[in-house]
Order: sequence, then C-alpha cells, then structure tokens
Amino acid sequence: MKKYLKKFFLFFLLIVTVACIFIGFHFLKFKSNVLDFEDDFITDVNIPTIIKNDEITFIDRNNNQSLDIYEDEREDLDRRTIDLLSRLSIDEKIHLLKGSGMRSGLGLAEKGVPGAIGTIVSTPRLGIPSLYLSDGPAGLRISPKREGEEKTYYCTAFPIGTLLSSTWNTDLVFEVGNAMGKEALSYGIDVILGPAANIHRNPLCGRNFEYYSEDPILSGYIGAAMVNGIESNQVGTSVKHFIANNQETSRNSNNAIISERALREIYLKSFEIIVKKSQPWTIMSSYNKVNGEDVSESKRLLTSILRNEWGFDGVVMTDWFGGNNAKNQISSGNDLLEPGTKAQWDELKKAYTDKSLTIKEIDTAAKRILKLILKSNKFKNYNFDNNPDLLGHAEISRKSASEGMVLLKNENLLPLKKIKNIALIGSTSFDFISGGTGSGDVEEAYSVSLKEALINSNYKINDTSLNIFQNHFLENESSFKKYEGALGTIMGMINPYTPPEIDYPLGSIKEMAKSSDIAIVTIGRNSGEGVDRVEADDFLLSKTELEMIKTTSEQFRSMGKKVIVVLNIGGVIETNSWKKYADSIIIAWQGGQEGGNAVVDILTGKVNPSGKLPMTFPVKLNDHYSSLNFPMDGDPLDLSSLFIRNEEKTKSKQEKNKDFTIYEEGIYIGYRHFDKKDLDVSYPFGFGLSYTNFDYSDLKVFKDDESKSINVSLKITNTGNYSGKEIVQLYISKINSKIDRPKKELKGFAKTPILVRKESKIIDFKIPVSELSYWNESTNSWKLESGSYIIKIGSSSRNIKLNHNIDL
Ligand code: BGC
Repeated sequence: MKKYLKKFFLFFLLIVTVACIFIGFHFLKFKSNVLDFEDDFITDVNIPTIIKNDEITFIDRNNNQSLDIYEDEREDLDRRTIDLLSRLSIDEKIHLLKGSGMRSGLGLAEKGVPGAIGTIVSTPRLGIPSLYLSDGPAGLRISPKREGEEKTYYCTAFPIGTLLSSTWNTDLVFEVGNAMGKEALSYGIDVILGPAANIHRNPLCGRNFEYYSEDPILSGYIGAAMVNGIESNQVGTSVKHFIANNQETSRNSNNAIISERALREIYLKSFEIIVKKSQPWTIMSSYNKVNGEDVSESKRLLTSILRNEWGFDGVVMTDWFGGNNAKNQISSGNDLLEPGTKAQWDELKKAYTDKSLTIKEIDTAAKRILKLILKSNKFKNYNFDNNPDLLGHAEISRKSASEGMVLLKNENLLPLKKIKNIALIGSTSFDFISGGTGSGDVEEAYSVSLKEALINSNYKINDTSLNIFQNHFLENESSFKKYEGALGTIMGMINPYTPPEIDYPLGSIKEMAKSSDIAIVTIGRNSGEGVDRVEADDFLLSKTELEMIKTTSEQFRSMGKKVIVVLNIGGVIETNSWKKYADSIIIAWQGGQEGGNAVVDILTGKVNPSGKLPMTFPVKLNDHYSSLNFPMDGDPLDLSSLFIRNEEKTKSKQEKNKDFTIYEEGIYIGYRHFDKKDLDVSYPFGFGLSYTNFDYSDLKVFKDDESKSINVSLKITNTGNYSGKEIVQLYISKINSKIDRPKKELKGFAKTPILVRKESKIIDFKIPVSELSYWNESTNSWKLESGSYIIKIGSSSRNIKLNHNIDL
C-alpha cells in the first residue's frame, strides 16, 4: 500500500511540475509580449522648457532652443504634422504604430492613468507625450483607487447607449458626451473608446446595451451627437466596432456574410452618418471578418469606403488584440495596433526590413497618429486636475436617464397619487443594475437603487417586502457578490452579474397586498461583452418571475390595488405574454448610477416620460428574421481568445453561426421585417407613452430643387393635462417600387422642447433627396428611384398620423 502511495505521490508531483512549467512558460511569454516590452521607450516626457522669443511663448519640446514648426501652435495642423513626421527616425515611426501593451490597462504602470486600457506611446527625444485611451460608451473605465493614496478616482456611470438612443434627443446626448469629455479631460484621458454604433441585428447580442438601435439613422444621429459632445473638449473618440460586430459568440473569428446592399443601407450607414456629421478622431475596427476578409485588414472597408468615399481623416485603431497580421493591418489603413504587443512590433520592423511594408505605408499611418497627438490636450501641456465635477455629472446622468426611460403601458395609474406604502418586489428593486458588463462597465462611486430612491422621495417601503429581501440576501450573500477592477471586468465577461431572484410564497404576497397601497415588481437583466444572451430565462421570463408578476397582480387586484412593472434591462425581453398583469410598465433600461432616482422622477411625475423604443419588442424571438441565423445557445467566453488567436478552421470544420454567420435577412432588420411580413409585435419601434397627448397637424411638404431636399413642416400641440415633450418620426415609403424595399424607413426625427398644456410647436425637417436612394448591387452605387413617395409622420412606426405624397 505504502509503495502505491509513494508512486501516486511521485506521479502527482510530476503532474504539478509539468503544469507549473507550462503555466510559467506561458506567463513569461505573455509578460514579455504584452507587459514588459517597452524598456527602450518607457520614459515619458518631462515637462519641457518654455522659451519665450519676441513674439511667442512656446514649449521647446526637442530642447534645441528654437521654435520649430511642430512646436508652433499658430501654424496649420497639417504643416506641423508633416514637420514632426520628418523629424522621426524609422524606428520611432514604427514604434508609434502600436500601443505599449497591457501594463496600463491592468493597473500595473507606475505612471500615467492606472486602468486606462490603452496608450499611444511617447517619443521623448522630440518631447512627444504618451496618450491614454479609456473605455467606454457609458462613462470612463479607469482604476478608482491608486496605491498609497487616499484620494479616489471614481467616474460617473452614465446611462447605457440603448437608453440614450431612447431619448431621441441629440442635444441631450451632446450634453452627456460633453460631460464625459470633461471627465476625461480632468482625469488625463485623451481618447474615449466609444460610442458604439453597431446595429441591434438580433435581441440576443450580448453587447446590444452599448449599441443604439436597430435603425441606422437613429444610431447615426445619436452617435454623432455623442462624438460632437465628447470632442468639444478636445478629447478624442473611437467609434466602434467598425463593422458588423453583431454577435459576441466567436467574435474574434466570426465571418459575417452580408450582401453589399445590407452592408451599405444598414450596417455601414450608421457609421457613415457619424463620420459625415462629426468627423471622429478615431474609429475602432472590429474583430470579425466581413465576407471572408478580416475587417482590420480590409483595404476596401478601411481605405476605399471609410476614407476615400466618406472622407474620414482620423486614425483607425484595432479592437484589443484584434487581427492576425500586423503588416497587412498597417498597409490596409488600420494605423494603430492596440493595446500593442512585442510580436507586432517585431513583425512590423521585419516587414520594413524585408520591404513588404513600405516607408510610404508607415508614414501614412504615423502621420495620422501624430496629427491626433498634436490635436490632443496633452500636447498643449493641459494641466489635468483629477477633480471632475462629479456632482454636476450625476445630475446630467439622472436627467438623461429619466428622459430615455420608456413608458409602455399606463392604465390610469401614473403619475402616482395618494400612494404612501409601496411593496417592492423582485431582487433587482433592491439591487438595481446600473449598466452592462465587460469593457462597457464603469467603476462608479455609488449606484442608487429603486428602494433608496423611493425612500429619498419619502415613500414608505412595505415592511414585509423589506424583510423578505433582507432574509433572501442573508441566505444568498455569496451570489450577491460583485467583483471590481480588472477581475470584475473578466468575471462580468464570464457570468454577467444579476441579483438572484426571490421565490415569493403566496402568503407573503397576500400579506403585502393587504399592508401596502401598490406593488412595484422589478425584472432585472444583465449582459455584456464576451457572451450572447439566450432565450430561456433571459429573453423569456423565468418561471419564478412569471409567477411573481402573475400572483402579485392577482392578489393586489383582488384588493383593488395596482401593479407597476419596472424593467431594469439592457436589451429586449418578451413582454407579450404577461403585460396584461401589469397596470403600468416602465422600461428603466440600465440608467447609470442615478437609475433608481430617475425611475422615481417618472413615477412621481416630476418628469413626464418622453422616451421611445429604439428597437422593436417582438411577440416571439423567432419572429426576428435574423433569429434563423444567430447563435442561440449562449456559448461561454473562451478566455484564451482574448489574447491568443486560434488557427483558422478548415471549411468543413466551420460551424454555422459561430465561425460564420449568414445575414440571410439582408436589409430586413427590426421593423423593416415586421412591417414587410405584417407581423404583430408587442411594442413597435418608436413607441412610448406620455402622461399627456399630442395632436399632429398642418403637414406641409415642399420639394426644394435648389438644395435638392425635401422640406417638411408640421405642428405638434400638447392637448393633454401635463407638460411634456414629443418625439416626431419621419418615415418614407416608395409607391409602386420596382425593387424589393421596406414598407417604410425612418429618414428623420425630432424632439419638441417641453410643451405646456395647449402649447404648439412647428417642427421642421430638411431631408436630402439623396437619402431616399437604395444601394443598387448591379451598378454598385446609390440609386434614386423616380416616381411617387409618401412622407409619413408618426408617433411610432405603427402609428402614422399624417401622410403626404410627393413625386421625385
Ligand atoms: C472591446 C472594446 C474595448 C476594448 C478595450 C475590447 O475587448 O471589444 O470595445 O474598447 O476591449 O477595453
């Protein structure tokens, strides 16, 4: 026996040793490739000398005692860039084309902005500083705490992208962007990695919460407002993920097979609008392939379309560790490789030496990066104070959150009157979700739950409901644990945090119905980067949740009391089967750190809801055409795929919807499909209720041949009893089209200011005629069909109030 034990022990020791060698080897490889390869260039720039000559005070960056063109802020930016480029050695140029690895992102760098996920490297010889890049769409993601310091560096969690697009308010989104930009400026961040403008192709995409809409016009205009807001502070943006990153499953290798028409009219369109309306400093290429070609290596997408056709003149950077071939990326127009690895650096040097990468290609990319550096606040030696206006930004977060929440149903209930004691039901009511997971997460200082917000507004939370939650929390404490920092981001990618739900016994619901005035049931959902959602217990409500809503409704209604359902969600869920049980339904989305307060602003009527849906809520998931070709099984994230590229599988081994996805639905995404097939929906695109009513009248349409636009005006009148804002939607339909076209397509939208009772406002639209074109695949160009069109003005895609025919 002893002999066997000894053998077993030796065998065990051998296994452990082999495992340690294996892990050690990979760790060292990872360390040298991703963490410690910047020794030669690691020195950041000291504050350079300021020299005065007769006419100007300037920063003598290269310490040569004279004013060089690139140092002269009065000079034209292009001249300065060319001058600076001419001073860089070939090594310095190549060095610039990749970031400095993951030290900063993992919070290991001693200098800079800990937690900033990416960098643009410095060139100390010429006084060029490092720049810092940080996620993301709902607020900055940097480390909130620094070793040896008491001071904290928390950032404001603004509402998620989907909520912001539900405001349909470009001025408000600009204001949010401006606040985010100011926060970046204050914390020394030079480029924010957002906004994210991918299309909601299917409700199950795990990152839909970061994206804006199923419609490219809404995505495009909201995205442009965000870019303009952030960049008004001379802080750059990186509009992502260009292009067709519409699923998380196998996101590094997925080949999206898309017709040119769908690409142009749907997927590229939102980015095209953003580029043309806001000229962002940078664009982030996506991980996936499109029609067999890696996006980050596609000259057609990154150079021919993005730059030559649309006029983009900024930097294209990769998504983190994206792509396979550094040389091809640079020569295709992907100027910057993030976060940068030693292997990429070596590969680029080798490609230059063996002449497969030309000096012209290197110069083109380096010049774009230098121009960005020259534009940055860092280059102006902006003195960031690490002291953003967090209170002011929390106000903006709350205001925008309440404006993007959508009232789906309201049967003589809201705003609340004479309600004192509220039974709060559902775990999420007590543990509100402020935003999604992964890189789109923000390390905020606090997050206001619905419970706290109701107490803040002097409501009494029913004791039974409080006790039930308290006991549930104590019994399941470990499941309520949230991780922070880099670990939190990774845990969130493996298993997005959602509070575990309570299984309410009938007796306790009866008791709450007796002892309170009303019930609020919250349904919570969370998702994020790395994993797609699934149908069971996610798109669909779980059995426990359905029971919770149904029983609450039966018990409260039997006592003449009402039920509100609050949806604290990041993406679409099923609503059709249970909406009858609720008297009011509010989509609170994930409203950032002030989410709870924003819901209460709506419940009390302090804010009259004015959000509308940026996507369709279907009856069934499979009603979406794209559900035929979408990964439905929620494959877990393969962590190694974050850093290691797998060999491409041979054709026969490739799996549908994972290795490749056929976009069989073409342009028929969202309402374009539901309208075409005349399908019932639970709530249509563009839908949302208000506490007041609006009348639509006086539609006038005029074709302006000079400016080649269609000028539309109409009158909106508040005919109800509350002050409020209305979102007006302009759709077009082609009569007797010779081609296959959607029944209607959004071409413009506008939001009124707050209109008091009986107040009217004239709304104007100027739609360029060219916007009515479709993509002709035989001529490979936009084409305008002549003939009759209908201009349709609606309060939603399924509630058209005014029509006007026009001949083109
Ligand atoms: C995400 C990007 C993000 C980047 C840096 C990637 O995994 O796809 O959206 O900006 O990481 O965090």
